[in-house]
Amino acid sequence: MTPARHGRTAAVLSGIGAWLPPRVVTNDELATRLDTSDAWIRSRTGIGQRHFIEAGMSTGSLAVEAGARALKSANLDSVDVVVLATTTPDQPCPATAPLVAARLGMTAVPAFDVGAVCAGFVYALSVAAGLIVSGTVGNALVIGADAFSTLLDPTDRGSGVIFGDGAGAVVLRSGEPDEPGALGPFDLGTDGEHAELIEIPAGGSAQRAGGVPTRADDHYFTMQGRAVFKHAVLRMTASVQRAVRRARWTMADVDRVAAHQANSRILHALADQLGMAHETFLSNIDRVGNTAAASVPLLLNDAVADGTLRPGQRVVLTSFGGGLAWGSTTLRWPELDVV
Ligand code: COA
Repeated sequence: MTPARHGRTAAVLSGIGAWLPPRVVTNDELATRLDTSDAWIRSRTGIGQRHFIEAGMSTGSLAVEAGARALKSANLDSVDVVVLATTTPDQPCPATAPLVAARLGMTAVPAFDVGAVCAGFVYALSVAAGLIVSGTVGNALVIGADAFSTLLDPTDRGSGVIFGDGAGAVVLRSGEPDEPGALGPFDLGTDGEHAELIEIPAGGSAQRAGGVPTRADDHYFTMQGRAVFKHAVLRMTASVQRAVRRARWTMADVDRVAAHQANSRILHALADQLGMAHETFLSNIDRVGNTAAASVPLLLNDAVADGTLRPGQRVVLTSFGGGLAWGSTTLRWPELDVV
């Protein structure tokens, strides 16, 4: 490890990568097995297609592909720690991060998973940034990867049309607080009183200790869509405002918002609440849907690739999901290669 030695340190973004499994699932394909339509999905969510994993793939394999690209973008072969945000680990035990680290050629580094559902990537980023700023590590690979297609109830048209699989990753290194790419203060929060709005009822210790036989359906992801929608707008609005204040910016300083891609109507409502133009909000939801923990890094990667996110722009990252959990941070976008 190469801990920071002196002065004020910050965690600085120095690499980015993403990966999508090749199989594309169109709205029309979903409409062959769910009571829905391309027109409904596009108008109510902004989603046109998503990617699903196939046999032989898993969250780990998505994470390895995205992680390898982020390392290449940072010109590194290895890092001091691997932090993986996911709700769909390869197995309940062990964590997926050590397997991912090993497949990336790192067999002696700390590697662990972070669980904050769709807010997971921002949480993982905050943990890795804390390890860097405390001098525990000199750099970190932070990955958001999920395969929600493996959790979906085949009869649930609400959640069934939203989610897609994918992975995004960034490399952080120790640097100066005022250089491009330096992460600003984080705003993080949860409200467990509304945990039941997004859940998988079975598969954990509560269900097993209860001795209650589970129904197959209890292993599926469930979401109360309309209530979640309202919380998403409220929580992300307040979180963005706090993160901007903590960075000593004003809303007028913000050039781009990279928000969790849950529903394009949520993004528009968030922009309206914040008094920002819809165009300020980066979006790739039409092509990938809601990729859970992968959403924000995948969005950043795509926005760099298509030129909507450019060096020097002031960016807010914000995310929201099960927990309920939310998190935001700020940075001035650095020069990065997308590979
Ligand atoms: N196709 C067609 N009709 C559908 C449908 C679908 N895929 N999903 C729901 N409907 C129907 C409902 O049955 C309902 O019909 P009714 O009025 O006859 O009862 C109607 O559309 C409205 O249902 P509602 O659940 O209010 O839809 P919605 O506009 O809220 O859209 C979601 C549903 C899931 C797309 C939306 O609530 C959503 O995006 N929620 C937030 C998700 C989120 O942010 N998740 C973040 C954590 S990961």
